[in-house]
Amino acid sequence: MVITIDHVSVEAFKDETILEVARRTGHSIPSLCYAKESAHKSSCMVCAVKNCDNGQIIPSCTTLPVEGMHIETDSDEVRLVRTISLELLLSDHRADCDAPCIMVCPQGLNIERMLHFYDGGHFEEAYAVLDAAFLLPQIACDTCKAPCEKVCRRGTIDQPVSIRTIIREIAAKAYPVSPEGGKKGWKLDKNRFQSRIGRFTEKESLSLKANINTSSNCLHCTCAGQTGCRLRLFATEAGIKRSRYESYSALPAMQKIHVSGKLWFEQAKCIRCGLCVYNSEDGFTFKGRGFGMQVVIPEESKSNIEEEMAGLCPTGALYVLEK
Ligand code: SF4
Ligand code: SF4
Ligand code: SF4
Ligand code: FES
Repeated sequence: MVITIDHVSVEAFKDETILEVARRTGHSIPSLCYAKESAHKSSCMVCAVKNCDNGQIIPSCTTLPVEGMHIETDSDEVRLVRTISLELLLSDHRADCDAPCIMVCPQGLNIERMLHFYDGGHFEEAYAVLDAAFLLPQIACDTCKAPCEKVCRRGTIDQPVSIRTIIREIAAKAYPVSPEGGKKGWKLDKNRFQSRIGRFTEKESLSLKANINTSSNCLHCTCAGQTGCRLRLFATEAGIKRSRYESYSALPAMQKIHVSGKLWFEQAKCIRCGLCVYNSEDGFTFKGRGFGMQVVIPEESKSNIEEEMAGLCPTGALYVLEK
């Protein structure tokens, strides 16, 4: 069967969707709720294309081609639909991509990562993060007004993390930096999309205060699953820097659920695409209906879920925590 994609005639093979034909023939279409060779149902509309024969906007990941059809994948109209779809998904997304503290550090210190090692008792690694940002870690923040402590999210619950005191403690130990650690030139890319949690509800504040008591008191705001997050990637590509809408999601912010092994789940970062539900046996499941629908893991099903599921998730909702 022959169809036209962006004015180019291409052959469509049996059972291929428009998305698959387009990608095979070199057309780039974003997708979130689709994963190659996995069970899926269209829900995100990020893969939208236009059927020029009837003017309809359709999800390319589930639509099968019809002989002679004309598809448009790269017009202003199609891009607008994808951008609106992304903005709607982000309107219900209570999460930080990067922790507030690292966004304001003038030296580009990855504070959250340093505290992550500090809290885990990995002081050499914590020192290496410090050493990557400062020529002389021992006098690192001595003249800085510490904007990191002013924006620290823990400060909205009780006290901000004493970031400078901890930095001095780590620096004073002056661990030797291995060639692999430190001096790697980590840099925050401020042009990428940034999700923001917004204010904690009173209930969330109380729960976080009671349950997060790391040695530093840090909440670890940075999204641990950001490396493979396609939601952030496509939002950035669409030129979205901040969510257009005030977050009004009822999903609990920063509730990190241990699934099994190194696998973790954060519901507030889930876009309910269903990939984990359709591709795990007796694992994830949907709860509720409509806008209040959630993806949950019954306690007794946690051991049925494999770490590989993190690779299927298009956001940072499911992630593997190495250390
Ligand atoms: S899941 Fe993606 S968009 Fe959401 S906070 Fe993490 S990196 Fe940002
Ligand atoms: S709680 Fe931790 S990660 Fe969050 S802003 Fe404060 S220091 Fe940074
Ligand atoms: S957790 Fe499951 S439903 Fe939620 S975004 Fe990831 S794969 Fe989709
Ligand atoms: S990727 Fe097609 S609707 Fe989500």
